[in-house]
Amino acid sequence: MEKIFNSESAEKQKNLLISKFLYKDNKKEGILKRNEIVNILSPGRANLIGEYTDYNIGFSLPIAIDKYKFLTGIKNDSDFVEIYDCNYKEYYKFFLNNITYDSKIKWANYIKGVVKEYLIHNHKIGGFSFILDSNLSIGAGLSSSAAIEVGVAKLIERLFKLNIKPLDTVKYCHSAENNFVGVKCGYLDQISVVFGKKDYAIFLNFKDLSCDYIKFNLKDYLVLIIDSKEKRNLFNTEYNKRREECNEVVELIKNLSGNNDIKNLSDIDINLLKQFKNKIPENLYRRARHVLTENIRVLEAKEALLNGNFQEIGILLSESHKSLRDDYEVSTERLNYLVNEVNKIDGVLGARLMGAGFGGNIICIIKKVELEKVKEIIEEKYLSKFNDRPDFICCKPSDGAKEINF
Ligand code: GLA
Repeated sequence: MEKIFNSESAEKQKNLLISKFLYKDNKKEGILKRNEIVNILSPGRANLIGEYTDYNIGFSLPIAIDKYKFLTGIKNDSDFVEIYDCNYKEYYKFFLNNITYDSKIKWANYIKGVVKEYLIHNHKIGGFSFILDSNLSIGAGLSSSAAIEVGVAKLIERLFKLNIKPLDTVKYCHSAENNFVGVKCGYLDQISVVFGKKDYAIFLNFKDLSCDYIKFNLKDYLVLIIDSKEKRNLFNTEYNKRREECNEVVELIKNLSGNNDIKNLSDIDINLLKQFKNKIPENLYRRARHVLTENIRVLEAKEALLNGNFQEIGILLSESHKSLRDDYEVSTERLNYLVNEVNKIDGVLGARLMGAGFGGNIICIIKKVELEKVKEIIEEKYLSKFNDRPDFICCKPSDGAKEINF
C-alpha cells in the first residue's frame, strides 16, 4: 500500500479531522473514540478495453486500480456535511436540507449528489465530517469522480449502518453523476469501483450489469498509464452529445429495419448496420461502427486474456484506439501522439486512449523490463513537442471500495 495510506497517515488524518472540524475545544477530544472513525479506500479504475460500450449496453473489461481516494469520517450529530479536501486544500460545508448544485466548487457536487441520493431513497442519515485525500490524478481518465462518489457512499453506509446491496450503491452513484453533476455517463466507472477485485479483471455485461472475474496476470508485461496532463471535465466536452448521437442511430435503424426489439446500439448486428450505411448520416454510421466493433474486440480480448495471449490484447488495444480516434472522434492531438510514439518502442504490445478521451490518458501494455526505456523516450519526445511532462502510472488490479482499519 502507498505510503500516504499507512497507519501513520491515518493518524494524521484523524488529527486533522479533530483539529479542522470537530473538537476545536481540546477538552472535548477525549470523547472521540477511535471506533467512531470510519476509513474508506476507494480505487480509481483502468479500462483494458470496451470504451463507450456502457451506455450502449455492450461489454467492457476494466480493473479497479491500486490508486485511491482515501476518506476518513465521523458522524457530527448535526444537519450538515463538511469536508476538507487535502488535494485542493479546501474546506466545504453544506446542509442536508438544502443540497443544490455548486457551479463554482465543482468537486463538491460529486459529494452532494451522492448524499442527496441517500436522502431521496429515504435512508436515515445525519450530518458527518470527513477528510478526503488522494493519490489518484483528477481529470486524468482514471475515474476519480466515481472513486469519490463510491467512497462517499461507502462512508455514509458505514457511518449510519445502512445495509445496501452493492448494486444499489452503484445505482445511487450513477444517478448522482447523471442527475446532479449532469454527466450522462454509463455504469462502467461506478461498477468497477464497487466490484473491483485484487488480481482480477472484470468482464462486464451492461445488459444485466453482471461481472465475471478473470484472472489478470500479465506475467512479463505490465499495464502502464500515461497521463497526457490534458485536463478535461466531461461536463464541458462532447461526452453528452455522443450519447445523443447513439440514441439517434438506434431510432434510425429501428425505423429502417422495422425491428422494434432494437432498444440499444448493441442490439444491432454489425451486418445490419452495414446494410443501412448509405441511409444514415455518415458521422452517425461511424459512431455506431465504433460501438459494435468495440464490443467484438472486448469479447476477443477476454478470450486472449484467458489464453494468456498478450500480443493479441496489444493488437486489440491499438485497433480500439483507431476506432475511438476516427469513428467515435474522442481523441486529441496529444493522445494520438502518445499512442503513435509509444507503439514505436520495442516491447510495447499496444496502446489506446482510455476512458472518455477528450484529454486524459492512454493505456499501454509493455514489457516490464522496458519500463524505464519507455518512460525516458516518451518523456523526452513529449516535452520537446508539447513543452509538458507526462505522468507515468503503473497499476495493478485492486479490490473495490472498502472500509479499512488500522
Ligand atoms: C467515462 C464515463 C463512462 C464511460 C467512459 C467511456 O469514463 O464515465 O461511463 O462512458 O467514459 O467508455
